Amino acid sequence: MIHFDSKSKIFKLQNKNISYIFYVNEVGVLVKLYFGKNINELNKENLRMMNNLEFDAYSRLELSSNKEEVFYDPYFSGLASPVEIPSHMSFDKRDSMIVINHEDNSSVTDFRYVDYEIIKGKPSLEGLPSLRCGDEVETLVITLKDVKGEIYLKSFYTILDDLDVIIRHNEIINKGKPHIKINKALSLNLDINSMDYKALSLHGVYASDRLIEENEIKHNKIVIDDIAGGKGFYHNPVLMLKHNDSSEDFGEVIGLGLIYSTNFKITIQGHQLDTTRINIGMSDYNFEVELCENESFVTPEAFITYSSEGTTKTTHIFHDLVRNHLLRSRPKGMENVILLNSWEGCMFDFNTEKVMSMIDECKDLGVNLFVLDDGWFRNDDYRGLGDWVIDESKIDLEKVIKHAHELGIKFGLWIEPEQISFDSKLYKDHPEYALYDKSLKYVTTFRHQLVLDLSNKEARDNVFEQITKIFDKYDIDYCKWDFNRMLTEAHSQTLKTNEQKNIFHLFVKGTYDLFDRFVRRYPNILLESCSGGGGRFDMGLMYYSHQIWASDETDGIARSEIQYSTNMFYPLIVNGAHVSMRRYLSIKEKASIAMFGTFGYELDPTKLSDSQKKEVLISNEIFNRNRHIIHYGDYYPLLNPFKGNFVSWEVVDKNKTRALIFFMNYRHINWRSRFIKIKGLDKNKLYRNTLDNKVYYGDFYMNIGINMSMGMECFTPTLIEIYEEK
Ligand code: DGJ
Repeated sequence: MIHFDSKSKIFKLQNKNISYIFYVNEVGVLVKLYFGKNINELNKENLRMMNNLEFDAYSRLELSSNKEEVFYDPYFSGLASPVEIPSHMSFDKRDSMIVINHEDNSSVTDFRYVDYEIIKGKPSLEGLPSLRCGDEVETLVITLKDVKGEIYLKSFYTILDDLDVIIRHNEIINKGKPHIKINKALSLNLDINSMDYKALSLHGVYASDRLIEENEIKHNKIVIDDIAGGKGFYHNPVLMLKHNDSSEDFGEVIGLGLIYSTNFKITIQGHQLDTTRINIGMSDYNFEVELCENESFVTPEAFITYSSEGTTKTTHIFHDLVRNHLLRSRPKGMENVILLNSWEGCMFDFNTEKVMSMIDECKDLGVNLFVLDDGWFRNDDYRGLGDWVIDESKIDLEKVIKHAHELGIKFGLWIEPEQISFDSKLYKDHPEYALYDKSLKYVTTFRHQLVLDLSNKEARDNVFEQITKIFDKYDIDYCKWDFNRMLTEAHSQTLKTNEQKNIFHLFVKGTYDLFDRFVRRYPNILLESCSGGGGRFDMGLMYYSHQIWASDETDGIARSEIQYSTNMFYPLIVNGAHVSMRRYLSIKEKASIAMFGTFGYELDPTKLSDSQKKEVLISNEIFNRNRHIIHYGDYYPLLNPFKGNFVSWEVVDKNKTRALIFFMNYRHINWRSRFIKIKGLDKNKLYRNTLDNKVYYGDFYMNIGINMSMGMECFTPTLIEIYEEK
């Protein structure tokens, strides 16, 4: 899968569908030749045809001899060539990848080839989450050296054989005596010889988390970044580059993603010569890392995907990548849960009796996981974070857990370990555990709370010990791990001055350490992370959490847009989605949206009417029947809610024996003709559908479609099940 031709110095990474090719040029620069559909040609003369920049030689003056050298390399013009590791302050005037500030305060950074090795498997990244690959993959490790000193770069490339994905990360090593400072360290750069693409990304805000946005590439920069320190509502570290000729089902689409949960940056730069540079990695916002002799710095992991079959294929690659190479498997006995969370039903206002009665109702409703959200240690959000002690005057945890288990219902508990209330014993005893800038007279609060300094191991140990006291003592099956505010005035009381500008990275590494300790100690707990609604929904956390709460917006209408957008990149099995009592839709209707996720309820079941209870029972039945295809099948977007009056999507099982379709009309009664063409079926199989209860061939559903014209009231979600007729 990885090949090096020592004569032409060409590296080729290839699986059965894609090729990624670059070579080492005469002056040691890694020049990119090709990324795309598999090609057999590997000889340089043929590849010469691909080079569209053959107009500018690279030349330099040797200062000692005052002699000018001119390199006539047809692929390499310096200024605009596609390269693997873009340099800084040198010939390349596009965005750089790594910036090192040297002791003489010069930041010329330009890595040149030294050697390579090919190793079995993919090395894991110490303290950082990364994709899980077995020994069947190979990794190319290229070593480069900076022109200014004894600074080395190891650049890692892994190609998967089951998915069209190339995984990248970099390690910077200082082998010299002088201290250096790293001011930028991205994970991946991709240069493309065209600007004919649109950038498709996710933006959001509280309760409108992750909505799709499309940007055209022009002769300028599109920067998609987040600097909130982790509660990334505003942007998400994923991207699709959609060729202008492509659509959902046809054409070239390149995907990018970063396995990281704090500040990141994606730059898409259209160049004057109509080429595009895209790079992705940790943000350079307030970032500086000092490296002394023999110290190294590892960047987070990033990846690129390739599809020649449109955006939906890219969606499938992302879904399979997360499901097969990132998520931990769900604990035994926790695969088939339907959850009820206490938050929207009673907020802080509950006691033992109330919780017992909610659990009793769960039993009758076919809900088999009860989650006690915030409030078991406090009565409001002004206090308590950091003091992980049960309020026994309010709740007898032992009793309610025993009661749930006797009824065959699993029990879950909410925590927020990364934060600290200023009204807490922990803060009184250890004000140095909070992040704030001591030299200021204030620190910004959100929801009356501060952020615990997770770069401080002592603070991490303290909360971990407190939390494990509870999780060791009680028989808890599920944990919701919340994170309700972003980082501001982010300054640690314990880090050294020269470490302060690495605070965001050290904070997230502390977070990962806490998650890592938790999942190792409690491998049988189903873990759902959350960040004040649908923030921090990223692949860094998907390495630890089985699922992530997708949004505090639980009303069905807005939820359908959030889920449609989120599903473009993330598999439905991670998508925390519940039915609440919020406006507009009935329980059954809201359930038909929430079931395309982890599915559950967020309400007080003791307040439901008999007819609402019936709706819960019917919805649970539909979900249980289809759970497997929703969580493990292939997802197809059918009608885009941002482009018309309708929203529709579909899941199909991998064997093409059944499908489930969701359809909703947003704006008016739809008397007009509306055929939805179904996707992903076997054209030669016969299928029965639950709309007209008739049987048709797969090619009928896929080419003619299902007629949704009549009776589609506005805001009335419809579910259609399709089964193979044997
Ligand atoms: C924010 C979450 O999004 C809610 O679901 C709930 O857990 C609250 N935090 C509790 O404080």
